[in-house]
Amino acid sequence: MKFNSYFNDIADSYLFAEVAARTAKYAAAHPDKKILRLGIGDVTLPLAPEVIKSLHAAVDDMSAKETFQGYGPYEGYEFLRERIRNYYSSYGVKLALDEIFVSDGAKSDLGNVLDIFSRDNTVLVPDPVYPVYVDTNVMAGRKIIYADATEQNGFLPMPDYSVKADIIYICSPNNPTGAAYTREQLKEWVDYANSLGAVILYDAAYECFISDDRLARSIFTVDGARTCAIEFCSFSKTAGFTGTRCGYTVVPKELTRDGFSANKMWLRRQSTKFNGVPYIVQRGAAAVFTDEGLKEIRANIAYYKNNAKLIAGVMDGLGIKYTGGKNSPYIWLKCPNGMSSWEFFDYLLENAQVVGTPGAGFGRNGEGYFRLTAFGSEEVTREATQRIQKLLKK
Ligand code: MLT
Repeated sequence: MKFNSYFNDIADSYLFAEVAARTAKYAAAHPDKKILRLGIGDVTLPLAPEVIKSLHAAVDDMSAKETFQGYGPYEGYEFLRERIRNYYSSYGVKLALDEIFVSDGAKSDLGNVLDIFSRDNTVLVPDPVYPVYVDTNVMAGRKIIYADATEQNGFLPMPDYSVKADIIYICSPNNPTGAAYTREQLKEWVDYANSLGAVILYDAAYECFISDDRLARSIFTVDGARTCAIEFCSFSKTAGFTGTRCGYTVVPKELTRDGFSANKMWLRRQSTKFNGVPYIVQRGAAAVFTDEGLKEIRANIAYYKNNAKLIAGVMDGLGIKYTGGKNSPYIWLKCPNGMSSWEFFDYLLENAQVVGTPGAGFGRNGEGYFRLTAFGSEEVTREATQRIQKLLKK
């Protein structure tokens, strides 16, 4: 027996596991210190009341013979897919029901989707990038090339026709930089992908943070995307499902190559390896896209956006450059005084007991940058930003 030796090519631990381990070590050595966490993008507000109501009702369904549910459809219950379809149509995107696949989250699907692609494909990822795109491809032994996201291009790399790629990852609004593409910019990526016969894996997990109408909420708002894109979305950041687990992936029927249909392959993959998201969770998720549910989750998003404003305000006051924070829950800042990302991580932890995420963990171009999340409570965000301000003003 041989293990998968490509695991030698990834870091020993996942970025957020590393941050958690270092924080835990510091906490154990300093039990008297109150640590404020603005590291991993985990939500802190409870689920919306409409969602809770629906979850309770679904639990009751499971208690009666007439309404009990066993295995559900592999692609998700129709009652949820209908709501997702209506949500898309509210901003002008028409989808067929069998193009929507419900899953336990965008992270899982972003990794799992690689099952339908050949190992020979060349993968283009922006740098810095959500580590899942890179690690899952390294585990499978695929060749990865990078598109530089830098201060110079506003952390929004554009296609370079001298570069040939087969699988292209785009995350907008971006994790970690918070930068987001306009529809015109995305159109350039769609044209590039179609010209190469490539596929775009579009991570829209943060679309609900968009308030600027010029920015794309979905790649399917762009002409031509149906022949080259798969979109991944999640209830995690939209509606606080990080612990409840539910997401959805859109695979258009026009995405075909050499007689293969991505939509059919994805259904085949899911029905072989996945038995669906629990009925109770899907009932909860369906409540998100009711009028009342949307009102409630939008209030939660406004709360997080206010946190982002608080953080951005402190950075402005300190004269620290950053991106994000407006159409995104992340603030991507330049480490002060030329510190490296991990140096700044240690400096903040030791002197202000504030935890963030070192930019270097997202790739080579992330070195010298640092990410703060707006998903904390307002109290924690306020206190953390006050501590940062006091420390860096010195
Ligand atoms: C993050 O902090 O980048 C996210 O929480 C990661 C994720 O969504 O998996």
